Amino acid sequence: MPDQKDLVDLIKSLRAVRRYADRPIDPAAMERILDAARWTGSAKNRQPWSVIVIEDRAALESLADCGPYAGHLADAAAAIMLVMDPAFPAAAYDAGRLSQNIMLAAWAEGIGSCIAFLFPEENHQRARALLGVPDDREAWTAIALGYPEDERATRLDRSPSNVTSEVTPGRIDPGQFVHRERYSG
Ligand SMILES: Cc1cc2nc3c(=O)[nH]c(=O)nc-3n(C[C@H](O)[C@H](O)[C@H](O)COP(=O)(O)O)c2cc1C
Repeated sequence: MPDQKDLVDLIKSLRAVRRYADRPIDPAAMERILDAARWTGSAKNRQPWSVIVIEDRAALESLADCGPYAGHLADAAAAIMLVMDPAFPAAAYDAGRLSQNIMLAAWAEGIGSCIAFLFPEENHQRARALLGVPDDREAWTAIALGYPEDERATRLDRSPSNVTSEVTPGRIDPGQFVHRERYSG
């Protein structure tokens, strides 16, 4: 078992990183991230997933055009595209768990990450075509990866084309988040 305090610190320090250093991902680190991802639990252990690792700059730039807030993919060192089998009702939940494991495993390697959600449907179709994803699989979620550029890497970008222009930083208070015994509005 990893040290419990280290694990909680890792979870709590995970932030979306959208600015990346011009440095490739260490191949051994990428393998560890992919292995951690593969061990994610899923409903009935169906594992309704596979991933596409994308490092080609032209492909990353094309993918960045496949979502209204996906621009950070263009500068990422790599992206991991989640390819999900939508036949299972819990697939979206499973994709969430898979994403979080990828992001935490990357963070443990000092690698920042940020989801790019490739919507609406037209963008989703373009991304699927770009990566050769078959008709019976979905590919809504790409996770951009890269070593953080500098201390600005987690700063919110207030330009209108960026999702973070609409984002409130931080988290709700414990009092708002936790109810005890009964819901207390
Ligand atoms: C389902 C989902 C979709 C997201 N899509 C995007 C996206 O398209 N573009 C983006 O820049 N960030 C995206 N994010 C990242 C969120 O903006 C981020 O998790 C949130 O602002 C908290 O960031 P923080 O951990 O740095 O505080 C997405 C996150 C989730 C969970």
